[in-house]
Amino acid sequence: MISADHVSVEVEGLRRQFKTKSAPVVALDGVSLKVGEGEIFGVLGPNGAGKTTMIRILSTLLMPSGGSAKVMGFDVEHEAEKVRRVINMASGAEKAGYDFISAKRNLWFFSQLYGIPGEVAEKRIGDLSERLGLTKYLDRKFYALSTGYRQRATIARAFVNDPRVVFLDEPTIGLDVMTARSIREFLQTEAKTHGRTIMLATHNMAEVEAICDRVAIIDKGKIIAEGTPEDLKRSLGAPALVMEVSPPPKDLEMLRQVAGVKGFTSSADEERGLSTVQVVVENDSAANGASAAMATAGYRVVASWRKEATLEEVFVALVGSGFKEREEEGGP
Ligand SMILES: Nc1ncnc2c1ncn2[C@@H]1O[C@H](COP(=O)(O)OP(=O)(O)OP(=O)(O)O)[C@@H](O)[C@H]1O
Ligand SMILES: [Mg+2]
Repeated sequence: MISADHVSVEVEGLRRQFKTKSAPVVALDGVSLKVGEGEIFGVLGPNGAGKTTMIRILSTLLMPSGGSAKVMGFDVEHEAEKVRRVINMASGAEKAGYDFISAKRNLWFFSQLYGIPGEVAEKRIGDLSERLGLTKYLDRKFYALSTGYRQRATIARAFVNDPRVVFLDEPTIGLDVMTARSIREFLQTEAKTHGRTIMLATHNMAEVEAICDRVAIIDKGKIIAEGTPEDLKRSLGAPALVMEVSPPPKDLEMLRQVAGVKGFTSSADEERGLSTVQVVVENDSAANGASAAMATAGYRVVASWRKEATLEEVFVALVGSGFKEREEEGGP
């Protein structure tokens, strides 16, 4: 539990609706959560879930329609000025700099908007750039940077005012694996060594598993689960049983008869004279049943183990469909 003294973001019954030509859209439908100082908190959800709306409200760019939100104890609606002094935000999807000045001048410009003394700003920009691998590119005009370096510059900008809380909307969208990883490492260091709170909205499960201390899964404006990535995975148990079976079975029809078996796949390893059979099970007794059925059919189970759920499986179990299907449906 987060102790009351160290709460950095506190959201209570937050609502936001948008007027549209047809019916009003409820983007946030009573969201409550607490984030502790120094935590990396993930807001995970499919397209249209309400992630950006929440980030925009918390960073004072959008007013709530109901409920309340505090950042470092300041109310986002009534004390917006105070909130702005202790936060920063960046969105991976938006272009966040002036094209015709260099990356360095961009960072300098933003540092001066915050009124940071020249020497301090110089040193901070140098340090952030170094840690984000941006130093070599600082003199390049913003438009001439590749997506990855522009994103690094955008991330640097989000830390230039030494914020206590940083809101990031899809910070690694469109980046290659290595660039995304180095940005994630940077964020972890910022949270752990400077005690900054980082709240990031994403639909990237791998990102959440890699760096988030806690995560809220949000769908249609509501939080449907919250906890550490480990908690969430444990809540689903181990939905797969993996068996190495010898000799490679000709078919796996015997598994179809076992109650609680939802599906299976197998791949044969001729050299080792065995097959690896992966069975999706509803519960432990289905797993036991599957391995017994193998033995009854005359196959030896050389080794077997259970596989923990992935965050994606948790999501599918909670929402009833994967991200892919949602995207194909065209949103919520
Ligand atoms: N300015 C607006 N006017 C009308 N509807 C809006 C507006 N902004 C957001 N919405 C609607 O609110 C809902 C939540 O949108 P939001 O952008 O917060 O989702 P998101 O979780 O960030 O999605 P994505 O993963 O696609 O970025 C959606 O149904 C969206 O269409
Ligand atoms: Mg969004």
